[in-house]
Amino acid sequence: MLRRLHPDQPESFAFTPDNLAWAEAQITKYPEGRQASAVIPLLWRAQEQEGWLTRAAMETVAEMLGMAYIRVLEVATFYFMFQLQPVGSVSHFQICGTTSCMICGAEDLISVCREKIAPAPHMLSEDGRFSWEEVECLGACANAPVAQIGKDYFEDLSAESFGEIIDALARGEVPRPGSQTGRFASEPINALTSLDEGGGVAHQANASVSLAEDLGDTIKRIDGGEVPLSTPWQRRPQEPAAAAEDPGWHEPEPRPGEDRAADETGVTEQEATADSAARPDADVDPGEGGTKPQMRDGPREGRADDLKLIKGIGPKLEALCHQLGVYHFDQIASWGAAEVAWMDANLTGFRSRVSRDDWVGQARVLVAGGETDFSVRAKRGDVD
Ligand code: FES
Repeated sequence: MLRRLHPDQPESFAFTPDNLAWAEAQITKYPEGRQASAVIPLLWRAQEQEGWLTRAAMETVAEMLGMAYIRVLEVATFYFMFQLQPVGSVSHFQICGTTSCMICGAEDLISVCREKIAPAPHMLSEDGRFSWEEVECLGACANAPVAQIGKDYFEDLSAESFGEIIDALARGEVPRPGSQTGRFASEPINALTSLDEGGGVAHQANASVSLAEDLGDTIKRIDGGEVPLSTPWQRRPQEPAAAAEDPGWHEPEPRPGEDRAADETGVTEQEATADSAARPDADVDPGEGGTKPQMRDGPREGRADDLKLIKGIGPKLEALCHQLGVYHFDQIASWGAAEVAWMDANLTGFRSRVSRDDWVGQARVLVAGGETDFSVRAKRGDVD
């Protein structure tokens, strides 16, 4: 099936403040130069917020991660988990139609969808609350046939039990996920045939089902405020008081980038740090929020430099720079530590990008008439 962007797209997308904080925290999980690894969690959170994945959301995620739009589009169109068109406001049903499920009755489930929701996949029901599609194997074949509803699997379904689940959702109820025939997990249907010395399964529901029930609403969309933001990997050892009070605290593992080249420039984190420490302005204390750089009302002679030649600056970030009054490489090249700190703190949605991508170092090369590896590739139109 061809997966294309929906013809009707909203003008813009912005993460809610909670989701933005969450997304920025996820990015810090990855070593320098590898922030693109956060693309799937960020796209997923954008979809959780909006219900489906809009073009504006993909562009926002691309900007946050310094990726070309096309790279994000490739990810979004490859995975069926990403919905490229509006889905039901209450829930979207994904029916597995692969071999095990097909043999065990998936076609009956699809008939129920056609009857109760809409005659074709990706059509909204008349009230706009439901939609459905057939998907490839959901990875729970031992419990076929399976449907994913929201974030949960509903297993061992029949046309009857599946119809009841749809009716329950239509009444505003939240049905119990997991096996619909009482299986604990994927043990044999009749009884355990091994590892049964303890008298068999002692719990009412497996951990996945229990967690879904503890959350209380398995089809609820995430708005970012459900659980406290936890980023223990960002805590520094020099915060012993916080560490002592946190039973989950442990010494962070060595960063993956340590002593290895962080990206294609071949510069390790240690070398980059040493380089910035050697700069004459490195001992400036940026203080709380740093110092606002000298800004311009507009570009000199009406022509701005192409800031996108600096690795890490895409069209949205360039527009944001213009809004702030940054148009030229020599402006950026003149920044010291205090100005970098201010910019890092004030590029809303793109915090720490100036220092992370060493805009100043790149700008100094370009101002001196040189080229960086990235600027050469950018001019050739050969960048991610
Ligand atoms: S075949 Fe349906 S979950 Fe694998």
